[in-house]
Amino acid sequence: MQVYKVGGAVRDRLLGLPVTDVDRVVVGATTEEMLAQGFRPVGADFPVFLHPKTGEEYALARTERKSGRGYGGFTFYASPEVTLEEDLIRRDLTINAMAEDDQLNLTDPYHGQRDLEARILRHVSPAFAEDPLRVLRVARFAARYAGLGFTVADETMDLMRQLSESGELQALTAERSWKEISRALMEDHPQVFIQVLRDCGALKELMPEVDALFGVPQPETHHPEIDTGLHTLSVLEQSSLHKQPLTVRWACLLHDLGKGLTPEEEWPRHIAHEYTGLKLIKAVNERFKVPKDCQELALLVGQYHTHGHRALELKASTLLELLQSFDIYRRPQRFEEFIAACEMDARGRKGLEQRSYPQADYLRGAAKAAREVAVQPLLEQGFKGPELGEALKRERLKALKAYKEAATA
Ligand code: CTP
Repeated sequence: MQVYKVGGAVRDRLLGLPVTDVDRVVVGATTEEMLAQGFRPVGADFPVFLHPKTGEEYALARTERKSGRGYGGFTFYASPEVTLEEDLIRRDLTINAMAEDDQLNLTDPYHGQRDLEARILRHVSPAFAEDPLRVLRVARFAARYAGLGFTVADETMDLMRQLSESGELQALTAERSWKEISRALMEDHPQVFIQVLRDCGALKELMPEVDALFGVPQPETHHPEIDTGLHTLSVLEQSSLHKQPLTVRWACLLHDLGKGLTPEEEWPRHIAHEYTGLKLIKAVNERFKVPKDCQELALLVGQYHTHGHRALELKASTLLELLQSFDIYRRPQRFEEFIAACEMDARGRKGLEQRSYPQADYLRGAAKAAREVAVQPLLEQGFKGPELGEALKRERLKALKAYKEAATA
């Protein structure tokens, strides 16, 4: 049997990038031979094994045929007769369909190296369409390699458009979609992911609430970029430039969804979009079974981001309500993430990317002042139960009034 490195390991080595995961394909072997050599079988779906010592993945060369809707609808055929070329042709992109042996001899029947040099993401064959998740994968690779100058080939975009229009994306499971979305958001150019999905019509299928933001104007005085969709892309871009975690990036993507619901006659104003957007944020969160921390932050940022921007003008009592809503006493990190999302929102405006955001430190200072109110003296005064809660609130409000006066004097 022959063993080859395939997929991302070959691609990233040729790009001069660090290789983390190594996938290998085995040609000319049977399952029995693999087991006899001590390989451990994994996954019920495909003939994939783990190396007894290194734990790396080895898959038998296989062909695949789609036999139904969604990811479950696959039949595969693995046997010692399946050639390397047959295994490579079922793969998504030419740059992912190269193999190399131990001596670094490249097998590249579909010209992946040429496309690497030309910086093109191109599908290998019509079999691309057999897994609709690949629409998201291509957009994710575009987001990852945009800095190197990669773009999607026109004919691949056409195929992605057909796949999107066919309704096949609806058959993807929440788990598979979220895995791609969350990885894409953590890439260097997450805004490219959304842009590519939009360009091929997939955004309308996956997140119509985000797609609806394009073409919706905002007041030029606050938003020189005007278009809410473009603004959202810029906010995402800022979140990556500022190395924000996934929770913040997800909140950035969804923060303005309410603006897509504003009746046209009210444009460019978006009164109460913070509230109207909440049901949309909830729907997107649920659609992809998004992890709880991302769900929560997106909802809180959706509801309170304009409070963040107006922090210095907020009454002490409103400031206290904001801090209480975030439960800053038990969840300090979440409030920091809220501040970060607000700052990304402010910086995601054309020409205002470098403008300072004094609201951030002001909010931090307010949280500190509220947290510094000590419980002990109130206990000593005999407060307990709900009365203690009320007394604590009164003291915090006093502290915030003093803070506000000192900070804005
Ligand atoms: N592959 C595919 N279609 C998919 C998933 C994977 O064709 N839906 C193929 C590609 O050849 C890919 C390889 O399987 O290169 C390995 O997949 P995976 O580990 O998911 O991706 P990598 O290309 O290694 O990229 P990453 O760096 O994102 O892990």
